[in-house]
Amino acid sequence: MKRSQALFSAIILVLFSTLPWRLDTTAMVRPDITKQAFGMTANQEPVELYTLTTNKLEARIMTYGGILVSLRAPDRNGKLGDIVLGYETLDGYIKNNPYFGAIIGRYGNRIGKGQFSLNHKQYSLPKNNGENTLHGGIKGFDKVIWKAAEVKTRNGVALKLTYTSKDGEEGFPGNLSASVIYTLTDNNELRIDYSATTDKTTVVNLTHHSYFNLAGEGSILQHELMINANRFTPVDAGLIPTGELRSVKGTPMDFTKSTVIGARIDQQYEQLTLGKGYDHNWVLNNRTGRLALAARAYEPGTGRVLEVLTTEPGLQFYSGNFLDGTITGKGGQVYKQRYGFCLETQHFPDSPNKPRFPSTVLKPGQTYKSRTVYKFSVK
Ligand code: GLA
Repeated sequence: MKRSQALFSAIILVLFSTLPWRLDTTAMVRPDITKQAFGMTANQEPVELYTLTTNKLEARIMTYGGILVSLRAPDRNGKLGDIVLGYETLDGYIKNNPYFGAIIGRYGNRIGKGQFSLNHKQYSLPKNNGENTLHGGIKGFDKVIWKAAEVKTRNGVALKLTYTSKDGEEGFPGNLSASVIYTLTDNNELRIDYSATTDKTTVVNLTHHSYFNLAGEGSILQHELMINANRFTPVDAGLIPTGELRSVKGTPMDFTKSTVIGARIDQQYEQLTLGKGYDHNWVLNNRTGRLALAARAYEPGTGRVLEVLTTEPGLQFYSGNFLDGTITGKGGQVYKQRYGFCLETQHFPDSPNKPRFPSTVLKPGQTYKSRTVYKFSVK
């Protein structure tokens, strides 16, 4: 063997032995997508379950509610674990789902008194949360069947879901054609691209409602959380924003530096009492509309890190306060209070009634676009 050849082989050998993926037993998995039947709704509509796989992550998404049924990500030892709450079967989701893993629409979070006006016309929505409308109404986008199609993508594997919400559905004006693309990328991300068009002026605010638990089980109170926001929107007793943008400084709402979620959650602070913990919209510092880091969660036991990037101006951090141990989910786990947390990227709650908040109005000819990336790593 010539000297140059020997040198070349040596370099290749060194490269191979230092590349981190070489140590990873799952490294050889090709991006892949498979489909299986997942049961029927009460109206005998078939539901399909898609499994998306990349070299590090595995996501299962169903056509009912566009629900992320499971998401398996490695811990610091490379061991995969399911880090989202949910059920093993379709039945659980149909009978009682506090929005586990679902796409939320047409309007994520609350609209005060289930009313708003557009172009001098008053619209009334069904009230499903006290006197308010929550997460799109009684049958929101979390409870409809989405059409699914695989889409070609260069750096991962993607599933496109589409749904047309009829003019007047849940009280909203306009036929709204919505699409949500879930992409599992080779960079360990779950990317969600939302888009929508309408034929009448309407309001739109789409989000994703996974309950994360980076430990895979138990309380989430030991997670550390950073939210890239200097302000939040305080709420009234019905969890409707008062309209104020309040500084987080000196309050238990300050997550500008990474802080243990449980450290201040039970403090005597009016906003925490009203929310029964954290259930608020943070005003993200990034107001450019371009993708930027919104939050980072870290679970010290497993080393898992979740970063949330978004083009949206707001983030709802919900600490699973309404979970009360009445739901038994995957693997027989009993979901008690604060066993999962949500990071819902969004426009601010009740924007249709808050002219000073960034607008959620969509007009014919315009395209609603929003992107959120959930990025996974270990520390
Ligand atoms: C959102 C709301 C919460 C709660 C959950 C689902 O996060 O802000 O108040 O409704 O969804 O239970």
